[in-house]
Amino acid sequence: MALHNARETTADPAADVFTSPISEKPLPKRAMPEFPAPPHVVHQLLRNELLLDGNAAQNLATFCTTWTDDQVRDLMDLCLDKNIVDKDEYPQTAEIEARCVNILASLWHAPVGSDDAEPAVGCSTTGSSEAAMLCGLALKWRWRDRRRAASRPADRPNLVCGPVQVCWEKFARYFDVELRQVPVEPGATGLQAHQLRQYVDENTIGVVAILGVTYTCTYEPVAEIAAELDRLQAETGLDVPLHIDAASGGFIAPFLHPDLVWDFRLPRVASINASGHKYGMAPLGVGWALWRDKAALPDDLVFHVDYLGGDMPTLALNFSRPGGQVVAQYFMFLRLGREGYRRVHQACADTAQHLGRQVAGMGPFTLLYDGTGALPAASWTLTDPASTGWSLYDLSDQLRMRGWQVPSYPLPPDRQETVIQRALVRHGVDRDEIELLAQDMRRAIKHLTEGRPHSARVGFHH
Ligand SMILES: Cc1ncc(COP(=O)(O)O)c(C=O)c1O
Repeated sequence: MALHNARETTADPAADVFTSPISEKPLPKRAMPEFPAPPHVVHQLLRNELLLDGNAAQNLATFCTTWTDDQVRDLMDLCLDKNIVDKDEYPQTAEIEARCVNILASLWHAPVGSDDAEPAVGCSTTGSSEAAMLCGLALKWRWRDRRRAASRPADRPNLVCGPVQVCWEKFARYFDVELRQVPVEPGATGLQAHQLRQYVDENTIGVVAILGVTYTCTYEPVAEIAAELDRLQAETGLDVPLHIDAASGGFIAPFLHPDLVWDFRLPRVASINASGHKYGMAPLGVGWALWRDKAALPDDLVFHVDYLGGDMPTLALNFSRPGGQVVAQYFMFLRLGREGYRRVHQACADTAQHLGRQVAGMGPFTLLYDGTGALPAASWTLTDPASTGWSLYDLSDQLRMRGWQVPSYPLPPDRQETVIQRALVRHGVDRDEIELLAQDMRRAIKHLTEGRPHSARVGFHH
């Protein structure tokens, strides 16, 4: 019957998307409809519904790519049917993945990967979370091997870290590892080297340092943390590997802070994860996990799958996954090169610093991060929350009325009394947009302070 209607709709010159039978009722929400509907009608109805999602370009909460070249869209379309796990069927996509791993190994100064004799060790993932799980597992496996070799118990592993993103909490819970989160000291924004000794012991599988703390966007002092672990080894014999969660910073530091030593240049660094879909500028759905060398990745975590006539080494939590994101990542590497990445990120950093200056001048705020020295972002808090009369949550709500998503949230548990706001500047967020945001912030502050109806005070006309 619906098929019949579909034909009629196409044949009827007066037919309209919004007079089609499926448009005239709420969409089915609990069970699949019995009959098909015209695709162009369903497409339009879903486009309408998706408008409620908000505008990704105004989402200053996300680190992830929200602006994409037309060529990337075309490549994504071309790769829609390529399953990256079928390396035998799509050997060129597999080859492109290996090239990306080599490029990142070189960017992050891995000692291997410059020739075929010692290839780079790494893989693509769905994002930093999966990469973190894989790198965490490698740490756990290596620690267990060391413990067994020494005839020591291997049943109480722990992982030491600062204010990590939730993916590390998931890793710890899913894979039965105690997460030892070191409290953030007053005035600090992440793990400090001198805090480590209290937390690291013979059951520590590794320490995670973050290049681009999710809360404040600053870098943890990776080289100092590595040096402290070196000293600890010299004094106690404990050899604790360091993993770098460079979800965002892995694609910023090599371009904006090339002299910062945070990567495989530090012998203590065993592995690094990063999100291609954040400052790597690939579309959503790609991350990277890299290890220093073969020794850092236990072979029994790698599966050799005999599939469709080929031997396929895989290291992943899932199996099938689209290949487009990896191809798009390679496109970005080729299209921008180092200079292009530097320019894009520098423009973002300049804009973030501009926002930081604007925010500092608004009156009620204290800047926590001004956009200099780490991620292109700014974060701030209310200088005197008790006497301001409104909260950062109120301000977020006001900004949301104009479509801006500027999140407010408390710092990690030990600093939860401090609520902060943070704005990330990414590829596609331009200077004028940030000017408009700053204008809207000033209006919203005036409104919250004076408590008059929003429309009367900001002069919005309909
Ligand atoms: C420091 C850090 N690690 C890991 C993640 C998780 O990354 P993904 O969203 O790519 O899984 C994030 C996400 O914001 C992050 O900021």
